[in-house]
Amino acid sequence: MNVAVLLLLGLGLLEAEGRCFFNRTQEHCVCYNLSQESVGSIIQCLAATVLEFRGGELQRYVAFPISDLDPPTIDMLGSLVIRKIIFGDLLVPEILLARVLRFFSYTQVQELVFDSCTFEGRGNWDEMAGQNLPILSLHFHNVTSAPLTGREEDLSGLSSWLETLQELAVTGSHLASLPCGTGRTFRALRSLDVAQNSLGDEGLMPTFCKGAFPQLQVLSLQRNNLTSYHGVCESLQLLPELQHLDLSQNKLLAAPSSSCQWPASLRTFNLSDTGLDEVLTPLPPSLEVLDMSCNHLHTVDTSLSSLKKLFLSQNMLQAAPSIRNYPVLDTLHLDNNSITELPWDEVKLLRQLRVVAAAGNPYNCSCAGARALQALGGTGSLGEGWPQGYTCRPRATRAGWCGTCRSRCCSVTARP
Ligand SMILES: *[C@@H]1O[C@H](CO)[C@@H](O)[C@H](O)[C@H]1NC(C)=O
Ligand SMILES: *[C@@H]1O[C@H](CO)[C@@H](O)[C@H](O)[C@H]1NC(C)=O
Ligand SMILES: *[C@@H]1O[C@H](CO)[C@@H](O)[C@H](O)[C@H]1NC(C)=O
Ligand SMILES: *[C@@H]1O[C@H](CO)[C@@H](O)[C@H](O)[C@H]1NC(C)=O
Ligand SMILES: *[C@@H]1O[C@H](CO)[C@@H](O)[C@H](O)[C@H]1NC(C)=O
Ligand SMILES: *[C@@H]1O[C@H](CO)[C@@H](O)[C@H](O)[C@H]1NC(C)=O
Ligand SMILES: *[C@@H]1O[C@H](CO)[C@@H](O)[C@H](O)[C@H]1NC(C)=O
Repeated sequence: MNVAVLLLLGLGLLEAEGRCFFNRTQEHCVCYNLSQESVGSIIQCLAATVLEFRGGELQRYVAFPISDLDPPTIDMLGSLVIRKIIFGDLLVPEILLARVLRFFSYTQVQELVFDSCTFEGRGNWDEMAGQNLPILSLHFHNVTSAPLTGREEDLSGLSSWLETLQELAVTGSHLASLPCGTGRTFRALRSLDVAQNSLGDEGLMPTFCKGAFPQLQVLSLQRNNLTSYHGVCESLQLLPELQHLDLSQNKLLAAPSSSCQWPASLRTFNLSDTGLDEVLTPLPPSLEVLDMSCNHLHTVDTSLSSLKKLFLSQNMLQAAPSIRNYPVLDTLHLDNNSITELPWDEVKLLRQLRVVAAAGNPYNCSCAGARALQALGGTGSLGEGWPQGYTCRPRATRAGWCGTCRSRCCSVTARP
């Protein structure tokens, strides 16, 4: 095989003895510490759809002569079924990556993942000018590299590929912002995941500058350093296609007043574990899924006419929200609050709510309070947690299970 093909397939070359393991069920092949001697072991991976390389040092191969490919090799690359390649625990000289990446244009690899890799030096990406790659999804996790700022010129050779990329993830990598021009290059990007980084309120505005990520539909900013709900709103209001936004695990505060409007396209909003003690406004008006679990909410009384799923577990609610505020709601999670009764005994409402999870609340198991629980439990809407997760408020003697204290709870469980 051509040296270039070996490099392409065996970027994880290292002195230490290593070899590949193929899991046929998963069609996943993992190669550890592949060396020049054991590189033949890759042959068994040719039937895999996912190929993973773990461990190695690539800097020894920086000076390798990499020639152009001959037609049989190109045919061979084109016939491979490999769709995803993962590089893990590697030192990757950027210059080598730049020279090898163009060979991917002969393959059908759609996903490239770099996990716990360190990129070294600055590559010369000129050879990639005008090249199209089949890769649609690029994921970096826990990587370090030279900063991107000021390297727009270097990377411009990649632009005809980056313009077609659909999914990009840069997670757990201390990212604090992206240069404005970077976002403008990703013209077709639909999903951007920058969870577990150091993005603060100041870093957001330049990252999502005018014209950046014009097609973006899914954005995860989970577990960053964001603090201003309205600041985030102002930074993201130029994303005209945004449908799914995850702000969970940031510590958000409200500005006293703001007229900022979220993109009208927003349908799914994740505000889980953001330290909120009240529902902040405005909320995107056409929301279909809202997750505000794991906060300190005491009441929820907003109305959202398109909302289908509302997640409010792990809050301090003393009452369930009024279902009339959510005419098309089908899923409601209320576990681990301070709710004493579920007040909806109207058959119509029960028919609408197909999934309710409300375990871990201190229910009043009087006859009246138990009626809604019993009705929901009877329809199967309460799912797996019913009845064992539905406990009564501790009484003088001891806590009881709604489902077991039949005499006190009237008929919470259906009698056998
Ligand atoms: C790969 O190399 C590392 C360090 O040299 C070693 O700790 C590890 O056990 C090796 N793994 C395999 C599967 O050979
Ligand atoms: C292949 O992966 C499946 C699913 O993770 C696992 O159950 C199985 O044990 C693996 N087989 C081998 C040979 O490792
Ligand atoms: C992140 O990558 C570094 C190497 O760059 C590695 O030493 C460290 O263990 C990785 N951390 C995690 C959480 O995987
Ligand atoms: C998070 O933001 C605060 C205030 O904006 C700043 O003081 C702190 O250094 C930031 N932390 C990180 C990890 O960036
Ligand atoms: C919201 O984010 C949390 C992680 O922070 C995740 O566990 C949860 O499933 C997400 N909610 C939705 C509705 O996707
Ligand atoms: C409710 O709290 C219990 C006990 O702390 C925990 O095990 C469970 O995962 C919680 N459920 C939800 C949905 O948060
Ligand atoms: C439980 O409900 C009954 C009837 O509605 C009421 O009289 C009683 O005070 C409630 N108990 C508690 C502890 O809230």
